[in-house]
Amino acid sequence: MTKPLTILGIETSCDETAAAVLRLEGGRATLLSDVIRTQVEEHAPYRGVVPEIAARAHAEIADHTVSKAMADAGISYAELDGVAATAGPGLIGGVLVGLMTGKAIAQAAGIPFIPVNHLEGHALSPRLDSDCPFPYLLLLVSGGHCQFLEVRGLGDYRRLGSTIDDAVGEAFDKVAKLMGLGFPGGPAVERLAAQGNAKAHELPRPLLNRPGLEMSFSGLKSAVARVVDGAADEAAKADICASFQAAICDVLAEKSRRALVAFDPGAEVRRFVVAGGVAANKAIRTALEVAAAESGARLIAPPLRHCTDNAAMIALAGAERLAAGLVGEGDGLDAGSRPRWPLDEASALSAPVYGGGHKGAKA
Ligand code: KG4
Ligand code: ZN
Repeated sequence: MTKPLTILGIETSCDETAAAVLRLEGGRATLLSDVIRTQVEEHAPYRGVVPEIAARAHAEIADHTVSKAMADAGISYAELDGVAATAGPGLIGGVLVGLMTGKAIAQAAGIPFIPVNHLEGHALSPRLDSDCPFPYLLLLVSGGHCQFLEVRGLGDYRRLGSTIDDAVGEAFDKVAKLMGLGFPGGPAVERLAAQGNAKAHELPRPLLNRPGLEMSFSGLKSAVARVVDGAADEAAKADICASFQAAICDVLAEKSRRALVAFDPGAEVRRFVVAGGVAANKAIRTALEVAAAESGARLIAPPLRHCTDNAAMIALAGAERLAAGLVGEGDGLDAGSRPRWPLDEASALSAPVYGGGHKGAKA
């Protein structure tokens, strides 16, 4: 029996400042605290996340958020076995705040620091609340990412397919912006969609007729832009939201069916996980549930709190890495921050799907 590990996790890569304390014992995770502070109000006037505002807001409240997580857990720093923080990908100013805070605590306490890939946090998030052993198929749908990955084990990810342009969350946010629905866009679009007619507008299902697992959402957003013109009242907007959400559901469900064919772990139970902020969407969860059932697989979706950004998933990734001896150089203290950090690095380097320039491939 390995000894229990108690880890502090810190998340600051986008617009949530979060800290959590988690205990990993016998492969089971127990959350001792889970603090999430959103910056929605700071960014709302700009209808999107402003990197400089995010970095300043993280810097202002990171220390207090960590203290609150420690107080809620009722433990002292001396009782920690390690500190984990998101080292990327994300908005670099914010990432640096969490990374430096984590390193400072680890160094002062004389314990390892574990740099965590934010996407690995999302990939492992189903293991916080459910029994979800490796391997599983993962659909990661967030503000910056949309991809199918085979999760074979800790740190062992294989990309099966990805968006070639916008992420799904990005599409939700842009559609919300077009209609002046406020920020963040996803929940606002979902709320209005519930009152609309999904058949009101015939919107495209990009790349659905092409084989493979590649996805595209920028054309769908442009199609929405064309019908938004003239949609002044709530009812018209609700119809657009419902039609848009239905198109997204159709694409994700069909691509999931194909991904489930491509993913054959040879295990009795095929697990299909949906994670990331967009996994909070109930219509999408339902569509994926149907697709999973048709394919003889079981859908696992984290509770809403652990779909969107949180530190519990970062603490879990850190704990699993520490337990496996995967900490990194200099007890983790040599880790730098990375604005781009694909989970399947080999595929992203040899066959980048999207993202380029000096920052490198996103997937
Ligand atoms: O994982 P997340 O919290 O942050 C990133 O790592 O990107 O995901 C945020 C994204 C945003 O684009 C937001 O609009 C979207 O998730 N989102 C939703 C819903 N809740 C959040 N999209 C659709 N429906 C929702 N209910
Ligand atoms: Zn995220």
